[in-house]
Amino acid sequence: MSPMLLEAEGLCASYGSYRALFGVSLALPEGSVMALLGSNGAGKSTLARVFTGLVASTGGTVRFAGCDITNLPAWRIARMGLVHVPEGRGVFGSLSVEENLVLSFRRRAGRSEVSTALERAYGAFPVLAERRRQQAATLSGGQQRMLSLAKVLAVPPRLLVVDELSLGLAPVIVDAVYDGLVAIRSNGTTLLVVEQQVDRALALADLAVVLAKGAVAWQGPAAGAATAMEGILGTGSVVDAGSRPGQPDSAGQPDRPGRPDSAGQPDSVGTGEGAGEMGRSC
Ligand SMILES: Nc1ncnc2c1ncn2[C@@H]1O[C@H](COP(=O)(O)OP(=O)(O)OP(=O)(O)O)[C@@H](O)[C@H]1O
Ligand SMILES: [Mg+2]
Repeated sequence: MSPMLLEAEGLCASYGSYRALFGVSLALPEGSVMALLGSNGAGKSTLARVFTGLVASTGGTVRFAGCDITNLPAWRIARMGLVHVPEGRGVFGSLSVEENLVLSFRRRAGRSEVSTALERAYGAFPVLAERRRQQAATLSGGQQRMLSLAKVLAVPPRLLVVDELSLGLAPVIVDAVYDGLVAIRSNGTTLLVVEQQVDRALALADLAVVLAKGAVAWQGPAAGAATAMEGILGTGSVVDAGSRPGQPDSAGQPDRPGRPDSAGQPDSVGTGEGAGEMGRSC
């Protein structure tokens, strides 16, 4: 079995007094794609933010590449190669597509890596190559999303967390965004894909985790997730079909006071700044 790149054990998180995650445990092997599914408000984005240091956990641990990264600052987590691409952020509208990429690649990987990184970005998203001289503000919403993804490819992240990439996009654009994810994966990046469009995510994923009310309701091979979700969403109850069922409970957890919510931080802090240090030891 492949070694685990990301491991969460009993993760809890709160926004003030509101508890959003209740003892979430999951394990993501290096080289795989995991779909993180669940209905609105289930806690998917919160979990993604806890992994990447944008929201503090109030209990439990996160390990990445064997290192305990629980509640490390977002920039340190990003430097280790765990990169979060938040929706539609980090694109400078007044600059061209290529200026956006070059600026980001110079900062993250250094001048000498820019041309290789551009090749990688345009390989993953050919439409950006066609529009390299176009002002970013005039790109379509889907193209801007591709640009924000391409910007983290300065150094291929070890784990890329993408949240609702397909939100509001036409199906043909979603296809292009997902083609980009396939290319990113083939460069060796492990993926955690948070999605409302279950079919899209499951077509790409090897594994799936379904969250319900802040707890793991099911986890297992992606092929079984659609049926499990029907059960969960249909009845509102938890289906215990996974190999590592979640710990949906508050019972055993210390009811620690919620930490101040850090969701107000700019998401850009988690977008891979300095990802060139990835792979360093703990
Ligand atoms: N900054 C915040 N302050 C207070 N409560 C929040 C905050 N962010 C999220 N929540 C609450 O935490 C719960 C989980 O939200 P989260 O955004 O993680 O859900 P989600 O599964 O990503 O939902 P969606 O599919 O709609 O994006 C929700 O009840 C939400 O209202
Ligand atoms: Mg969300």
